[in-house]
Amino acid sequence: SLDQCRIVDLPKISDPRGNLTFIEGGGRHIPFDINRVYYLYDVPGGAERGAHGHKELQQLIVALSGSFDVLLNDGRNKKKFHMNLPYLGLYVSPMMWRDITNFSSGAVCMVLASELYDENDYYRDYEKFVAQVRGK
Ligand code: TYD
Repeated sequence: SLDQCRIVDLPKISDPRGNLTFIEGGGRHIPFDINRVYYLYDVPGGAERGAHGHKELQQLIVALSGSFDVLLNDGRNKKKFHMNLPYLGLYVSPMMWRDITNFSSGAVCMVLASELYDENDYYRDYEKFVAQVRGK
């Protein structure tokens, strides 16, 4: 549910030579094991990504570079997160519709995912997603 979705403070090793952040699975920094990593980049101004929900998939979304907004919607309530720091991750629980918008130029959106890619795990129709959530 929306209450489970939260900003995760990742370790940051500050160094005059440049900072370092790491993310470990096994329940240490995120509550799932990482089975897949993907990233969005070269996103043209005004483009919108996401616009779908997942049945089982859990994710951690990180703005590796630049910024964007993530709008989460559990079918009842919505919450908007502005992502612009590479040491903060947004944990997205299952059954969450997400829209990703307002990409800055040069933004890189990295996503850690709990499962391999599976189109059968997607809700791509918002009305169907809401109907499922509301038990219709
Ligand atoms: P999609 O998940 O709709 O993109 P986003 O949510 O980032 O806007 O995926 C876009 C296309 O890429 C779709 O045809 C499926 C494919 N795809 C893969 O093959 N593997 C993956 O891990 C992901 C995330 C997408």
